[in-house]
Amino acid sequence: MPGTVGIIGAGQVGAAAAYLLATTPGISDVVLVDQDAKRAASEAADIGHAAAFNHAADVRAGAYEDLAGAKVIVITAGVSLKPGQTRLQLMQANLGIVDGIIAAVLKAAPDAVLLFATNPVDVMPALAVRRHGVPPGRAIGTGCALDSARFRERLARHLGVAPTAVHAHVLGEHGDSEVLHWSGAHAAGMSLELFAEQMGRPIGLELRATMAQDVRTSAYRIKEGKGVSNFGIGGCIARLCRAIVNDEHTAFTVSTFMEEGVAGIPATCVSLPHILSAAGASAPLKPVLDEAETEALRASAALLASSIEDGLR
Ligand code: LAC
Repeated sequence: MPGTVGIIGAGQVGAAAAYLLATTPGISDVVLVDQDAKRAASEAADIGHAAAFNHAADVRAGAYEDLAGAKVIVITAGVSLKPGQTRLQLMQANLGIVDGIIAAVLKAAPDAVLLFATNPVDVMPALAVRRHGVPPGRAIGTGCALDSARFRERLARHLGVAPTAVHAHVLGEHGDSEVLHWSGAHAAGMSLELFAEQMGRPIGLELRATMAQDVRTSAYRIKEGKGVSNFGIGGCIARLCRAIVNDEHTAFTVSTFMEEGVAGIPATCVSLPHILSAAGASAPLKPVLDEAETEALRASAALLASSIEDGLR
């Protein structure tokens, strides 16, 4: 069914995504699949009660065979970050889990778009393409779409405007080597620098460094305080699913596996701007970067390329 989204994993991230998807325009059905069927059924029932206060999709627990016809299938299952761990350190634990999930999902819904949220998220599209033959545009990592939202929110808070008024992207690894694309940030038809000056809230080099650190370490601080980051990634998943299910043709910095390098970046899986539509993700677009950003993105891509080679060996 065109408005159906499947979610594999009814943990904190999958449940948050299901809850937000329930009231996302264009989504008619959400099917929650988890090896703990009781947990999936309880989350679906609980979300269904919230839906009684608002128009919402039908959210139900199911098995893999209930995913037939789903437009998008979100993979959230796996081991989550422990304090002090990096996302790439989760690779060995999660590659095997996600490998099995991809095989089961493709059996039930061979034409669905796969949207990965399980970390290290940038490795998973490469696994789907190289091990399971999924076309690159239909194996998407949430990548730096979440980091870009964090970047916009941090800038907006300083500037005293809504996050939707600021256009700013994060590129590269969804992780410690990510690159904030300052030179491309803009608002109200002007560069971020000029906009900040006109708003009386200039952003100097020191504040830039503080903001970059805030964005880069958000997940670590949230996990330290509440044990998991789930609403940010849940909102990211819901927004990306909405773009795909509604065939929006809108731009997001997600990650897909590149067969060839782009703009001096080696062929790997890294977050770049893509257009999302019912077909999935377009080929990656080439952002206009300054010299420092180009070097940082090349380094981030090289780290991912070697991690993917190690992981998929
Ligand atoms: C985060 C997890 C989803 O950044 O990697 O919150």
